[in-house]
Amino acid sequence: MATSQKFGGNWTEDKLNIFTSYLDAYLIALQNQEFKKIYIDAFAGTGEIETSDGGQYLVGSAKRALSADKKFDRYFFIEKDEDKAAELWAMVDSEFPELKRSVSVYCGDANEKLEQIIREQEWRYNRGLLFLDPYATQVNWTTLETVAKTKSIDVWYLFPFSALERMLPKNGKYEKWEDNINRLLGDTGWREEFYKKDPQMTLFDLFPDASDQNDGERKVKDANPDQIKEYILSRLETIFPCVSKHARIFRNSRNSPMFLFCFAISSDNPKAKGLALRIADNILKKK
Ligand SMILES: C[S@@+](CC[C@H](N)C(=O)[O-])C[C@H]1O[C@@H](n2cnc3c(N)ncnc32)[C@H](O)[C@@H]1O
Repeated sequence: MATSQKFGGNWTEDKLNIFTSYLDAYLIALQNQEFKKIYIDAFAGTGEIETSDGGQYLVGSAKRALSADKKFDRYFFIEKDEDKAAELWAMVDSEFPELKRSVSVYCGDANEKLEQIIREQEWRYNRGLLFLDPYATQVNWTTLETVAKTKSIDVWYLFPFSALERMLPKNGKYEKWEDNINRLLGDTGWREEFYKKDPQMTLFDLFPDASDQNDGERKVKDANPDQIKEYILSRLETIFPCVSKHARIFRNSRNSPMFLFCFAISSDNPKAKGLALRIADNILKKK
């Protein structure tokens, strides 16, 4: 078995099972519809995984999508690492020769290639399922905006919760991360949402010029993981017509939140939205 990618923890399997359950239900729900069904895996990996915390072998998202009983009309895989992209293509070639004609593997950055793939489809006649499964903060907010504008793509996004938390220091000195956070969340509202004025009077209040913060006002973090989760979901709701409230937090062995697994629908058709949300919520509510 190929082992060129190692990552994740126990939750990696939960994530993949949640995603695959949705994918199977999605293909059944759309089987008698005229739309062309498109699968996009923007952080595709190789199709096989060895988790870093216990030597567990798992089938990855790309292979799961290709093995589903019902089929997509097109499969787009994006993978930045050249060796992994080659391994992925070799897997498609040897294990799914009958699907090869409908598969494209792009080697490059997910944001760039996703923009290209989306631009090249006629979304009025297509329905898409997108998996965004990055290690960290690779997904730009502008990419999510492009996805939402298709009004045709359902997206599962493994939001990098711990990476965001690491960029939000308790002492309010977030300046060096600011651009990165804005790129991830799409605006600057998080500064007011996650920070408040430090209520403690110190020497800085008596000698404000000595403060090294730009506005001379010291801030402290005032946000717990639940508030951060709600904020992330509220940001997604600004661009997607529908976002599941049951996003799942994946935690590490010390119970710290690592990722937030979010589901968003870009269609504004009430029937399509209702069905997709019911399926996703049912899966997410099961522990
Ligand atoms: C968490 S793994 C994805 C695993 C995959 N979904 C699976 O189930 O097997 C993240 C993958 O994204 C790739 N990657 C990292 N940065 C990327 C980027 N900017 N664009 C595309 N792929 C990237 C990594 O090489 C890695 O294979």
